[in-house]
Amino acid sequence: MTKYVIKKAGKYWPSKAMKDIAWVNDSKIYKQADKDPVKFWGELAKQGLIWEEPWEKTYQEKLPYFYWFKGGKINFCVNALDRHLAHGNKPALIWVPEPIKEKPIILTYAELFQQVNKFANALKQKGVKKSDAVSIYLPLVPEALVAMLACSRIGAIHSVVFSAFAPDALKSRIQDCEAKVLVTADGYYRRGKPVNLLKKAKKALRGTKIKKVIVVPRLHKNKNYFGKFENFNMFIYGKKSYCAPEIMNSEDPLFILYTSGTTGKPKGIVHDTGGYATQAYYTAKYNFNLKKDDIMWCTADIGWVTGHTYAFYGPLLNGATTLIYEGTPDFPNPDRWWKIIDKYKVSVFYTAPTAIRMFMKLGDKYVNKHKMNSLKILATVGEPIDNDAWNWYFKKIGKSRCPIIDTWWQTETGGTLINVLPGIGPFIPTIAGKSFPGTKHTILNKSGKKVKKGFLVQESPFAPGMLHGVYKDHKKYVETYWKSFKTKYDTSDGAIMKNGLFRITGRTDDVMKVAGHRLATAELENAINTNKLVNESAVVPIPDKIRGQVPIAFVILKKGQGSEKLEKLLKEHVDKHLGPTARPAKIYFVNALPKTRSGKIMRRILKSLLANEEPAGLTTLLNPKCVDEIKKIIQPDLKKPENAKKSKTKK
Ligand code: WTA
Repeated sequence: MTKYVIKKAGKYWPSKAMKDIAWVNDSKIYKQADKDPVKFWGELAKQGLIWEEPWEKTYQEKLPYFYWFKGGKINFCVNALDRHLAHGNKPALIWVPEPIKEKPIILTYAELFQQVNKFANALKQKGVKKSDAVSIYLPLVPEALVAMLACSRIGAIHSVVFSAFAPDALKSRIQDCEAKVLVTADGYYRRGKPVNLLKKAKKALRGTKIKKVIVVPRLHKNKNYFGKFENFNMFIYGKKSYCAPEIMNSEDPLFILYTSGTTGKPKGIVHDTGGYATQAYYTAKYNFNLKKDDIMWCTADIGWVTGHTYAFYGPLLNGATTLIYEGTPDFPNPDRWWKIIDKYKVSVFYTAPTAIRMFMKLGDKYVNKHKMNSLKILATVGEPIDNDAWNWYFKKIGKSRCPIIDTWWQTETGGTLINVLPGIGPFIPTIAGKSFPGTKHTILNKSGKKVKKGFLVQESPFAPGMLHGVYKDHKKYVETYWKSFKTKYDTSDGAIMKNGLFRITGRTDDVMKVAGHRLATAELENAINTNKLVNESAVVPIPDKIRGQVPIAFVILKKGQGSEKLEKLLKEHVDKHLGPTARPAKIYFVNALPKTRSGKIMRRILKSLLANEEPAGLTTLLNPKCVDEIKKIIQPDLKKPENAKKSKTKK
């Protein structure tokens, strides 16, 4: 069995076998890139992508905006598909449905090309043009990839919305990007049961400009489509299997993806074409050492940026095979994932720490029986990975053979930015690593001085995959990313520097990571506040062993007392308005929330109380008395043994 790591002086490093196959195995790359990052990226972009016309300027910065490959002409789809047609019979996508009895779908590059072109022609016939937005509300099905690539072929901007989001969340996203077409499905399977997605999609349509809804018949439940609804298969039926690609400017938008910020309204993060393609291609290539015969499985849903860049675009730009799985990780048995790895000979596996912790809890017996000897590289994303989860992943999944690449990045960065490269190492639990060659991050204190522990920022020249603004909201863009450190991009993450490597400590703003999903406390509060019984609410995250963090809500009712029944009702209300991912783990009914004299809710105080710590800064509060009341209300829960232990281990 090939070992891709060796242990030296208590640390893991790439073995000779890994170094031999690695695209990058010499750490000189960092220094070389650092000398002239613009030249470095320029050369990569030239070598790695097909450009219809060369650019005039590799990088131009007019903060808060910056442009890569200005004047360059490119089509994203050509890079992801057309250029691999020389190996057209190679699988581009393996789709594993949840029901065991159902057959997987394998699409070769040639087959995918055909479907994408047909869909592109069909969209064009419906009047979708360059720069029009298309909303996509799909589960993990092959048609999601077809629809996304088809948009990129004709220069339309896709905006994918996570299929577990509630109708309200879908509606506001459709309205914001003014999409006229929605691609959705009749449903999908979860834990063996069909889930009706179309019903949710229909609810979201009122008040939007959607003229056409294309429905993937995943469950084959709906026989008749009429009005604005059309079956996906009928939509592409008889269409030509070639559609000339729209030649785009490098800085034209490729997609908008909404993400949570510190306010209740999600931000439309805009990613451009050429810069994003360059970072997606090279980060997938260097981090995961992707070669044409690799099968990469990134478990993220396409509703999140990880699904965009590493379930779909990164592997395809590299001409590799991507595998996606429709269903629940532990269905019908807790070894479903490991079976898939063995069966399809997955070589690169990329998942979130929350999933690893869940499998850890289920017990070793489910992984021990699987060899998983096709694996070469393991990777994680989405939240810090703790020591225990790292070691379990390393030993039980990687069988102590494979490096773990802990990748730090964000929806805004488009692709990974801080991690260790597999041919270079070292692989250390809880340490993400170095800035990707050609990018630079530093840690600053509040006043902008370089320190070893503080706020993580990115320095100029900013990475090619970075966001191109917030859709129709310049002010939000400036306030969120450029207000604190002016000429440096504020990541809103905390970090510690140790021996030249970054350890990420988590968000410094009011954003939570719940089971790897990004969620703003304000978004959740807004959803709770729309319930007519609620006067006001405050949400804070608390640590959770499996999900990383879970939200806890404090609610002031308009009148009357809280009850278990009311708690259940409000949780259901959140399910309906945002989706179950956001459901609070606990709701406390209180009479007042700690506020400053200017009326700002002090969530920090609520956090301290839940951590069983004495909160600081009570004197500045408008209503310090409420703190004692809240203490009393939460006390019974804090006394529970698991919480008592948690509060002790808190620093
Ligand atoms: C967190 C996900 C620690 C971080 C790609 C960031 C991480 C937020 C890591 C972005 C990691 C992501 N270690 N924290 N390896 N990767 N994060 O936009 O707080 O869903 O700001 O993008 O996830 O979440 P988003």
